[in-house]
Amino acid sequence: MKRRDFLLGCGASAGALGLAGLTRAQSGAAQELVIQPASFTFRDRPTEGMVSLSPDAPPPVLYGRQGEAMRLRVRNTMPDYTAMHWHGMRIDNAMDGVPYLTQMPIAEGETFEYEFTPPDAGTYWYHPHCMTMAQMAHGLTGVMVIAEAEDPGFDSEQVINLRDFRLDEEGTFLPAFTARGAARGGTFGNVLTANWLDAPGYDHAAGGLVRLRVVNSDTTRIYKLHLGGAEARIIAWDGHPVEVELPMPGKDEPLLVGPGQRVDFAVATPGAEGQSVELLAELPGRGSRVMARLRATDQSLGRDLRELKPLTTNPVARPDLTNAEVHDFVFGWTPEGGPPNDGFCGSMGYSFWSINRTPWAGDAADNVGPLATLERGKSYVLRLRNESPNLHPIHLHGLAFVPIRSNLRKLPPLLTDTMLLLKDEVAEIALVADNPGDWAFHCHVIEHQKTGLTGYIHVT
Ligand code: C2O
Ligand code: CU
Ligand code: CU
Repeated sequence: MKRRDFLLGCGASAGALGLAGLTRAQSGAAQELVIQPASFTFRDRPTEGMVSLSPDAPPPVLYGRQGEAMRLRVRNTMPDYTAMHWHGMRIDNAMDGVPYLTQMPIAEGETFEYEFTPPDAGTYWYHPHCMTMAQMAHGLTGVMVIAEAEDPGFDSEQVINLRDFRLDEEGTFLPAFTARGAARGGTFGNVLTANWLDAPGYDHAAGGLVRLRVVNSDTTRIYKLHLGGAEARIIAWDGHPVEVELPMPGKDEPLLVGPGQRVDFAVATPGAEGQSVELLAELPGRGSRVMARLRATDQSLGRDLRELKPLTTNPVARPDLTNAEVHDFVFGWTPEGGPPNDGFCGSMGYSFWSINRTPWAGDAADNVGPLATLERGKSYVLRLRNESPNLHPIHLHGLAFVPIRSNLRKLPPLLTDTMLLLKDEVAEIALVADNPGDWAFHCHVIEHQKTGLTGYIHVT
């Protein structure tokens, strides 16, 4: 899109939205999310230059209910452009928040009202899809909890948003990435946080049943997680209830949770006051690190994991593999490619990565066709081949899919929106193309996404 077209288009949409905004504000139903500068104290020193939805706190957990409309009015007060994406939600394409593909970027002072009805319950999250690296690295990642239409019977819930920040000794932001990192496994943060805190502890009733929702909203790190001191079960993965029994991860076989992925545990807290459950991450060369704790308080409620009924499955159509067409996708380095044209959405200045040997030309590039066109209602198999030594959490917007096979491991049949591809892995995923539109398809290591490992899939 040319700048002139953008400016024209932009004015028109701002006017239309302004009016819509007015009516809805009167009915009081929309929740306003103001993207703004923030500061926060991580290690005794305040860090300035953060981006959040309030001046001094992490982006809040947004709550919704399955089947009930949500109206989220995003107002941008930053000098940079932005757009908000609701990761994992199978909603209308126009509400997906992908700049130039589904909407115009939101300029300073502008508002965009997102309105959708979540079809699925579960743990989701939100983050900008324009100035993605700059704003996510500076804090703008939040969790969305979509409650089941029917109460699943927990005593309490705990949301844990895992993410790293890259800060120097003074608490000043280091550059969000290095070219070296972007061309390899990504650039890692050095301050590991849960809900922006260092190993926070949260009180929950002793002997109670807690739903622990863990979200990896980091730009780079694949967390290797396990729980200590708990009787627990994995009940949902990437939002969707698991329908098979998954082994509980341990120190030696931790659960790999890539950027963008979520896991829900049902945890029985210890029966004695003062004992705690630990969420642990295995870090390369540094052993286990406590990311967060659940502390048991008061008298035991005496609950038992066996009291929990399985969660109700989400209404996702299951692919029929008998005649499903196969589409191939190869993820690797790029043979060539200039800097992407990301328009107002921030370019990292390099192309290192590609899908099917073509690097993404950039969010604002003209005439970029889809990687594949899928006919609405049909089942498909997407064969994903990783030709690089790095891991890639491959994410598809707007649709849920099931991993069906891999050349390296047995894949449990979990509904998901993000497939963590291992080194040299070829994995097949299957889906029903039942949500029309242009759906972004990219690696969720943001440095890979922004340096070529992006495309989109068109559903008719
Ligand atoms: Cu969570 Cu296209 O992203
Ligand atoms: Cu997404
Ligand atoms: Cu990647």
